[in-house]
Amino acid sequence: MHSVSLGETPSTFRLQKVSIAGALLLAALYMPRIPMAAADPFRSLYNATKRHRSQHGCLAYTFEDGPNLVALVQKLRPNRVLELGTALGYTACIFSTGRPTTKVDTVERDPEHVRLARENVASVGLTERVKVIEGDFNQVLPKLPAAGYDVAFFDGYAPSMDIIDTLRTKLSGEGTLICGNLGLVSDSAESRRLSKELADKSRWLTEWALEGGATAVAKKVNGQQ
Ligand SMILES: C[S@@+](CC[C@H](N)C(=O)[O-])C[C@H]1O[C@@H](n2cnc3c(N)ncnc32)[C@H](O)[C@@H]1O
Ligand SMILES: [Zn+2]
Repeated sequence: MHSVSLGETPSTFRLQKVSIAGALLLAALYMPRIPMAAADPFRSLYNATKRHRSQHGCLAYTFEDGPNLVALVQKLRPNRVLELGTALGYTACIFSTGRPTTKVDTVERDPEHVRLARENVASVGLTERVKVIEGDFNQVLPKLPAAGYDVAFFDGYAPSMDIIDTLRTKLSGEGTLICGNLGLVSDSAESRRLSKELADKSRWLTEWALEGGATAVAKKVNGQQ
């Protein structure tokens, strides 16, 4: 942090103030941009998921940056969203806020989570727009349409290159991938492959980050599969 010593002349102080301002401007220009956080209309589902996890003893860790996800979704305004990892439906409901007509397909293999998610989705009046699909990602994904989604969100446990490659095929030409839990990838070679893939500017434009950088947001470029 900058501090001004008594020995500084006004001109060196001004110069340092200018360079601090310059550094802040550069940071604002080049750091991943995050849309301004919006109010989270589904905070009650966030709280319900936390309570559930402590009782069920499962790994349904809920997304920790809801207000910024709401802001991102309202900026992207997707028509169709695919989510892997429903838990109790918290983030699936957030995705429905993109447009009054946004449709969300969300995949979950734990039958208790599926039951509670369907209950929660119904309680907020979203049954027609948020479809909870029961099954393992690997079994459900082949049945979902190619290029059928404007946003694909991975929020299962650790992501893998295979799942990211598959999600890419599910995204429309300029669709956006949101990939959570990057810090959970324990295999260092796989972690390097994922970082390299998401940094490949011929395939992805990484504009934002959520959860303090733990969740990447990358727009598909060139429409290549
Ligand atoms: C981190 S939680 C999802 C949190 C949720 N998106 C939220 O923010 O509230 C991960 C969920 O993915 C589910 N899951 C993990 N691996 C899966 C797989 N291979 N197929 C289907 N569901 C899976 C787990 O049962 C768990 O409910
Ligand atoms: Zn659980």
